Formats: sequence, C-alpha cells, structure tokens
Amino acid sequence: MHILFATSEARPLIKTGGLADVSGALPVALRAIGLDCRLLLPGYPAVLAGVKDAKPVCMLNGLPDDTVATLLEATMPDSEVPLYILDAPELFQRPGGPYQDVAGHDHPDNVLRFAVFSKAAALLASSDSPLAWRPDVLHCNDWQTGLAPAYLRLAGEKTPSIMTVHNLAYQGIFPPAELLTVGLPPESFAVEGVEYYGNLSFLKAGLYYADRLTTVSPTYAEEIRQPALGMGLQGLLTSRGDDLVGILNGIDSGEWNPTADHYLPCKFSSRALAGKKDCKLKLQQDLNLEPGRNAPLFGIIARLAQQKGLDLILAVADGILHRGGQIALLGTGEKALEAAFRDLGAQHPGRVAAVIGYDEGLSHRIEAGADIFLMPSRFEPCGLNQLYSLRYGTVPIVHATGGLQDTVEDGVTGFVFHEPTPHALWLAVDRALTTYADTKAWQRMMRAGMKRDFSWEKSAREYESLYRELLKPA
Ligand code: ADP
Ligand code: GLC
Repeated sequence: MHILFATSEARPLIKTGGLADVSGALPVALRAIGLDCRLLLPGYPAVLAGVKDAKPVCMLNGLPDDTVATLLEATMPDSEVPLYILDAPELFQRPGGPYQDVAGHDHPDNVLRFAVFSKAAALLASSDSPLAWRPDVLHCNDWQTGLAPAYLRLAGEKTPSIMTVHNLAYQGIFPPAELLTVGLPPESFAVEGVEYYGNLSFLKAGLYYADRLTTVSPTYAEEIRQPALGMGLQGLLTSRGDDLVGILNGIDSGEWNPTADHYLPCKFSSRALAGKKDCKLKLQQDLNLEPGRNAPLFGIIARLAQQKGLDLILAVADGILHRGGQIALLGTGEKALEAAFRDLGAQHPGRVAAVIGYDEGLSHRIEAGADIFLMPSRFEPCGLNQLYSLRYGTVPIVHATGGLQDTVEDGVTGFVFHEPTPHALWLAVDRALTTYADTKAWQRMMRAGMKRDFSWEKSAREYESLYRELLKPA
C-alpha cells in the first residue's frame, strides 16, 4: 500500500511543534509494518540543507499563480523514509521560520505558499501525476495541506484522502478574495465547501472534502464536536461524526530513551534510577539553580501560547517556591509570556530558570532532570511532552483535556486536575508535593509511568486499518 504523507514539518529537518515529531516518526512506524509511506515537505532552506542526496525528478505544472516548482527526491536523514521535496525557491527559500519572518510576522504570501503545497500533494495523488510512484491514499496534516482534498475532489479524482487535525486552533484563514489566488471554483465558497464565517479556511476545506478525518487523541475527537473546543467547526465535525476518529500519537522511543539518550550526562532506567538524580544535579548546575537533590524541580517545555495554560503556572509559581520548589522553563512564543517568565527568573535567581529559546538538547535534559512536569494546557489535542515525561520518570501534572486526559492516570502515573483555574492547579501541585515527600510512593509513581508503552506501533496499526477501509471496493 502506497501512502503519501503530506506535512509542513518533520523532524529532524524542520520543526515548530509536535507535528514535526509525529511526521518524523509515524511514517517510520508505517514502513515497519510493511506500508510504503513517503513524505512530502516544502523546500525550506533547512530541509534542503538537511538532506544529502536530493535530486530533481520532475517539474510540477498547473500550480496556483503559475508557480514553477521542481519535485526533488531524497531520503530522511536518520530513517531512510523516502522524501519528496517541493522546491519552489521564491515561496520557500527565505529567512525566518516556516510560517513567519525573522521578526515574527506571518509571511504575507502564506495563502499562496500553502495553496501551492496543497496542490502539489493533490497532483501527486492524481491520475495525471508526472511521477511514476502513485499513492493509494493521500494523508494530509493540518491546515497547510487542507486544500489538497478539495483540489482532488473538485477535479473528480478518485484517490481517497485523510485529513488529520493536530490542532483545530490553527486553520489557515484568509480573506474571500484569495479564492482566486488558490484557484478554486466560486461554487466551492459555500458552507458546504471551503467557506468559514465569510472567509476561506484551508482546514475547513480539508475537513469538508477529505474522505476520512482523524485527530490525535480519542478525547480531542469528542471535544471538537462541542462548541467549547470546536472553533466554530463543531457542526461540520458532528455531521461528519462517522468519518472522524481519534488515534493517539506515539513517541519516538529511540529518540526519547533515558537509557541511551545522547543529550543526557547520565543514563537511567526504571530499575536504575540513580542516573536521574545526577541528571538533576547537572541540570541545576547548568541553569544556575541552587544545587540540591531534595528540592522538587518543576520542568516546563512549551510553545509560549495561550493554549498551554502558562498563566496558570505564573499564578501558582510563588506557592511552588514557598514550598521549596524550583522551576526550569524552556520556551519561546508570545512576547508577553516570554517577558513574564523572564521577570520571574530575575526575581528568583537560583530558584527559577527561564530559558527563552528553542533548544532540543536542553529539552531532553529538562525532561530527564526535573522531578515534576507541568502541563496545564487549556486544551491539548494530544501533547507529547507529558509522554516524554512519563518515559523519563518525571511525574506530570496535567489538566484533564484531550490527549492529556487519555495518557495520564491520576494518582498512578501523574496528577490530573479538572478545572483550568489556578486553584485547581494548586491543589494538584499540593498533592504532588505531598507524594514527593514520601520517597517510596514517589518512586512507585515514577516507575508506573516509565513502564507505560506509548510506542508508535499500535497507532500505526490503527492508521493502517483506516487506509484499508478506504481502499475497500464500495
Ligand atoms: P505542540 O505541538 O502543541 O507545541 P506537543 O507537546 O505536541 O505540543 O509538542 C511539542 C514539541 O516541541 C515537543 O517535542 C517539545 O519538546 C518541543 N518543544 C516545544 N518548545 C520547545 C523549545 N523551546 N525547545 C525545544 N523543544 C521544544
Ligand atoms: C499539535 C498539538 C499537540 C499534538 C501535536 C502533534 O501541535 O497542539 O497537542 O501533540 O500537534 O499531533
């Protein structure tokens, strides 16, 4: 079975969040169970620089705005997954991130950039693709690929498509006049189509036209059918309820493995926990925190966005410090949150370390060195850091939402609270600190989490059965 996995991010080449982790690992797991899954990525500078063997295979014609693009063929650097790169230099080769310029403003032509990317994915899945390799299923991820199912369907192509929602809050919404730019017919600009409250929504297009919809945890698949988290799409998602399923993300257990993680100063496992204490001492030293095995160290790694509930952490920070705790945060994002955590660090030297930036190695060392991981997200489609925490014996405190609710077991592997309020978070922190003081009980929780299996294989099998369903003769 041939699967084309179209995504705007895949680690280790290009990453802004969990989408990259999933796109780096799921295709590997699908190939391991016998599927020929290949990736399609935009030709960002980091992608072109990160592969060794890229060679042109064909030109792609018929792209929006007469864009000329070359399709390159390569392999993923550390996994041998075949990779197609959409090389359109005027759209993708520029400084800044995949979506924003160096100053943090959205690239002004994002509508064209991702219409071209979506159209390229649709072309490769269509009957007149210039490529000899044809996918049986086109698997789209998030808004950047949302128009692909629309292009396919409106061209009368038969290849089935799947739209996976990693986060409904990012939709790719553009003014209605952009319908011309993306080259969709006027009749598609309708409630039964790509229209979203008077605008064009890339994600809505995918949700309307794809044959099947998935999201990254069973609870989130339920939550997005309700007004609170449905982002105005709850009606569509409810009417497509039979086609929508939640498949929990896994983790790359080679990349996140405390017994072999090359970013760590010491290795450890559920049977040999001593190395974790050494990781903690080294982390305290690196981050200029007061050294001490017994001070409970709270870790936070996140995009600094409203979604992540960081305001709740700011509200309980004083309480944590009062009880002898320390805080290590790593994140970048909204300027106000960056400033608030920088201030907290400046007010409490030796007790709070706020590292504003993106640092893969440090993210591993925080997962390993912290005792407790804070993830009070207001909503969380799946969440990966709580899974990394479980694997690294760092007991997570999470809000009962989305994938957090599906992966952390209250009182057994972590602490779960139900209202996204400072008070409810504080009660969970208090419970955690009480348990932390009881070494035996704490180690039992650490080990319970470390033993949970969140490897990709089970999820890969669920995707496989979905693909097979789509290929069943009607
Ligand atoms: P989201 O995709 O919503 O950001 P996830 O928990 O699914 O949340 O995934 C986030 C991923 O990005 C994790 O792999 C996490 O370690 C990583 N990450 C987030 N912020 C940083 C940062 N500042 N430095 C390094 N890694 C980060
Ligand atoms: C999104 C979500 C996160 C999820 C990730 C990968 O960025 O915010 O919860 O884990 O995608 O699916």
